[in-house]
Amino acid sequence: MIQGIQGNPTVYLNGDWVPLSEAKISVLDRGFIFGDGIYEVVPAYSRRPFRLDSHLGRLERSLAAIHIKPPLDAAQWSRLIAELIERNEGEDQFLYLQVTRGVAKRDHAFPKPEVQPTIFAMSTPFTPPTTQLREEGIKVISLPDERWLHCDIKATALLGNVLARQTAIERGATEAVLFRDGFLTEGAACNIWMVKDGVLHAPLKNHLILEGVRYGLMEDIAEALHIPVQIRRIRQQEITNADELLLTAATKEVLPIVRMDQRPVGNPTHAGKPGPVYWQIRKAYDEVIGKLRAGQL
Ligand SMILES: Cc1ncc(COP(=O)(O)O)c(C=O)c1O
Repeated sequence: MIQGIQGNPTVYLNGDWVPLSEAKISVLDRGFIFGDGIYEVVPAYSRRPFRLDSHLGRLERSLAAIHIKPPLDAAQWSRLIAELIERNEGEDQFLYLQVTRGVAKRDHAFPKPEVQPTIFAMSTPFTPPTTQLREEGIKVISLPDERWLHCDIKATALLGNVLARQTAIERGATEAVLFRDGFLTEGAACNIWMVKDGVLHAPLKNHLILEGVRYGLMEDIAEALHIPVQIRRIRQQEITNADELLLTAATKEVLPIVRMDQRPVGNPTHAGKPGPVYWQIRKAYDEVIGKLRAGQL
């Protein structure tokens, strides 16, 4: 029995399908020793993966960035994911994929000759955010971004993110919003959006943030709703004076941020409550998921 995990889901490890409790890797796996690996989290609604092509594209970019040859091509990943969904229960699932550089003698340099990468995939039950969370929003704190300078890689080495999230929890908030040199980067495990005067603002897609699959979705939704989008550097002071703040992530979909550092977010008409742009985006987001569930995407 593993703490926090119900039942014994079937996982994929290096070509085999095994119960989670039997999935074992070497202590010399470079993922364990160095955090030398990358991962993806793909949500599936009504047993259909959402925006799989974008997730697989990002997986491929992460692998290339850390110089691991893709162990599977897109068609093979798609088949693996279909089987993972098939072998597990639950209409809505999270599909976690991880690739590490593999097992070798502990040495910082890459193993030579190359070793087989470790491939791991598991499904966990996904409960989309509750009505309460969607309607009441979440509290965040601001923190300096103390992570490395390759946050665009979805690396398993997440210590900076983990410590930021833990600080948020210890201060009674749900998430940490990070700032580097006085400018917004992202959340510990999400992208952050600011609404000001009817315009949706997001930070540049560069090495300082992970470009979420929902980043692209938000751009598509904003375009469809004729909400202007500005992608630029955003000062911390602007975030403090935002009309609305939103976050996006596979696990959180899109949620309103209603308090930051214990102060209400938003202008007087909706201070401390989700704002009008959130509601518009929320509705459009739900419609997209509704289409996916109905097999219309
Ligand atoms: C650091 C970070 N930024 C952004 C995101 C959002 O990415 P996505 O929309 O693909 O879930 C995540 C997701 O977990 C994340 O961990």
